Amino acid sequence: MTNERRTVRVDLGERGYDIVIGERLLETAEDVLAPIVAGRRAVVVTDAVIRDAHLPRLAAVLDRLCDRWDTVTVPAGEDAKSFRELEALLHRLLDLGIDRSTVLVAFGGGAVGDVAGFAAALFMRGIDLVQIPTTLMSQVDSAVGGKNAINTPHGKNLVGTFHQPRIVLDDVSVLESLPRRELLSGYGEVVKCGLIRGEAEFAWLEENAPSLLALDAGPLIEAVRMGCGTKAGIVASDERDRGDRALVNLGHTFAHALEAEAGYGALLHGEAVAAGLAAATALSARLGHCDPRVAERVRGHLRAVRLPDRVAALASDRPWDPRALLTHMAHDKKTVAGRIHFVLLRGIGSPFVDGTVPGQAVLDVLDGECRRG
Ligand SMILES: NC(=O)c1ccc[n+]([C@@H]2O[C@H](COP(=O)([O-])OP(=O)(O)OC[C@H]3O[C@@H](n4cnc5c(N)ncnc54)[C@H](O)[C@@H]3O)[C@@H](O)[C@H]2O)c1
Ligand SMILES: [Zn+2]
Repeated sequence: MTNERRTVRVDLGERGYDIVIGERLLETAEDVLAPIVAGRRAVVVTDAVIRDAHLPRLAAVLDRLCDRWDTVTVPAGEDAKSFRELEALLHRLLDLGIDRSTVLVAFGGGAVGDVAGFAAALFMRGIDLVQIPTTLMSQVDSAVGGKNAINTPHGKNLVGTFHQPRIVLDDVSVLESLPRRELLSGYGEVVKCGLIRGEAEFAWLEENAPSLLALDAGPLIEAVRMGCGTKAGIVASDERDRGDRALVNLGHTFAHALEAEAGYGALLHGEAVAAGLAAATALSARLGHCDPRVAERVRGHLRAVRLPDRVAALASDRPWDPRALLTHMAHDKKTVAGRIHFVLLRGIGSPFVDGTVPGQAVLDVLDGECRRG
């Protein structure tokens, strides 16, 4: 075991906070949790999987620090992200008789983090939130930045708030119980971060992916630090998502269309992101913004770790239809006045937003990405 901890600061002035990354943090994070929860009540919001597998590890620290703490369980996965579950959660909090000084601890993947974060924002107009994410996806992405949301029949993540946590604890040890497919999906976001960050970071991933995906703590901590650092930097420069924050959406215009077309739940988000990264770099090359070798290199890395390296590699019972995907993009919530916004690359480490990409160029690229064989 490595005792090494890494800390990434999310620099948002008086709402700023630390992301602490390490091994066995659940048992050892008393020092960093104390300033937030010592002598107060806490409510841990989690799902049954995490409660059974990991809550006992956190319990000792909470026993020592908190005046009293309770647990509320929500359904696992996307089922937690509904008005119904949000309402049930708020009622449970009221039943427990908590007050404004209580700390809510979101302990689970991005779905738990979203509904718990939303509840923390709403309860008595906002109570303190601690994020303890348990998937690679949530450790590098969803637990950082303060966004939360639930789903409605109109679509995913359309209703939500901004509510920054007081601290994020990324314990890489919890990833040991994560299904392999979920781990790889989270790694799709890490690849995105490497592409946003630069040549050195991407090359580091190419070299270290096998060991970090084998859950070797040293490289895993480093990869989580890179992922969080990327998101933290972008969030600090654009907390409310009005400009630069769009850069974290590299690959996501394609990914959201793929998820919508597949039917929500058929693909994991990071799988769609992986195919989206391949498509976004191919589009960048096609428009002459970057060297075609960048697109081939991205594809090669995705293939090496067994993530989808093109749309056609994503599971589907029928062929992918480029026109249907383009239609989804036109309806994406990030589409402004009919202009689809793509994050493109001038090279590794040089992303930019382009709202002027011709639809035909997108279709041409998608034709290639969707073709089987
Ligand atoms: N708020 C944001 O900024 C933001 C950003 C990205 C994604 N999201 C949201 O995050 C959600 C996806 O999150 P996710 O990828 O973490 O998946 P998830 O939260 O849906 O979890 C997936 C499954 O893994 C299980 N699980 C979680 N941790 C585990 C562990 N350590 N061991 C064993 N099983 C474990 C869960 O019980 C669940 O069944 C989506 O709803 C997405 O919209 C939010
Ligand atoms: Zn994403």
